Amino acid sequence: MHTKELTRQYFDSLYLEQRLMDSCVPETDLWLYGKKFKTPIMTAALSHLGTFHPDAPNGMVDYAKGAELAGAVHWYGMGEEPEFEAVMATGASTIRIVKPYADEAKIERQLKHAESLGALAVGMDIDHMFDLQGNPDICVGEAMSVKSSEDLRRYVEMTKLPFVVKGVLSVQDAVKCAEIGVRGIVVSHHGGRMSAAVPPLYILPDIVKAVGHKMPIFVDCGICSGTDAYKALALCATAVSVGIHLIPFVKQGAEAVAKRIDDMTAEMKGIMAYTGVKNCKSFDAGVVHRL
Ligand SMILES: Cc1cc2nc3c(=O)[nH]c(=O)nc-3n(C[C@H](O)[C@H](O)[C@H](O)COP(=O)(O)O)c2cc1C
Repeated sequence: MHTKELTRQYFDSLYLEQRLMDSCVPETDLWLYGKKFKTPIMTAALSHLGTFHPDAPNGMVDYAKGAELAGAVHWYGMGEEPEFEAVMATGASTIRIVKPYADEAKIERQLKHAESLGALAVGMDIDHMFDLQGNPDICVGEAMSVKSSEDLRRYVEMTKLPFVVKGVLSVQDAVKCAEIGVRGIVVSHHGGRMSAAVPPLYILPDIVKAVGHKMPIFVDCGICSGTDAYKALALCATAVSVGIHLIPFVKQGAEAVAKRIDDMTAEMKGIMAYTGVKNCKSFDAGVVHRL
């Protein structure tokens, strides 16, 4: 079965018990890297929305504006400095994910540039080092290269901002990230690059157990409702990202993106109330059952 389908099936296999006695109206605020946000539902690190989706020519900026309007953390993926500057000009608190470029000078330049513009954090999607035949990837015409723990440690030390590794899908990688000073990980298979990859929510509890007290743990891949977001948060994700599901809303403009994040947050808040979760720090994995 394809990774994406397996991930969807796993979300749908999780059910929640009700805990109504002594429950209250929940708060959905998220504190991250010293800042307060209205919701733990964030955008995902997308890229090239203008190029690959011609009906959303200003897509990357509208996507960021939508996150800002919703009071959500925004993530930004592959892109050049002028586009990133336009994204930052929206005022969105943004985590800038730099590709594992073969060009080390470009990595350093993009990390420093994000820092100079006041990004919330920076990071790298290590699941784009390889193509699917095991060679260094070429992504939108640009050469990637294989990065070691020591390379990643160098990037951690290169920036004053928290450095996040995106594409962690094992306890082994999570522990290595913690050892080199990484300040956040995204439990993700990048929308299913590797076949038969474990669903992020399947491996999440083991990763939380190993490193959850050391850094925020984010999750993406296939989240398309407040219920999906709730399940990841219940399994102790700090916050979740939504990518593909938001693309049709990006085409309708920033307000539509914000409204979708608001609606997902409201749906999640409803389940928090029904399961006795009063805020984003008090999720309890005990409510989740697998049928
Ligand atoms: C159009 C598109 C562009 C993407 N570009 C990037 C990128 O530049 N950097 C990155 O780390 N991830 C990128 N991703 C992966 C997403 O951040 C995310 O990991 C993946 O889509 C799974 O989440 P989702 O199912 O909510 O979309 C991209 C995904 C899409 C669909």
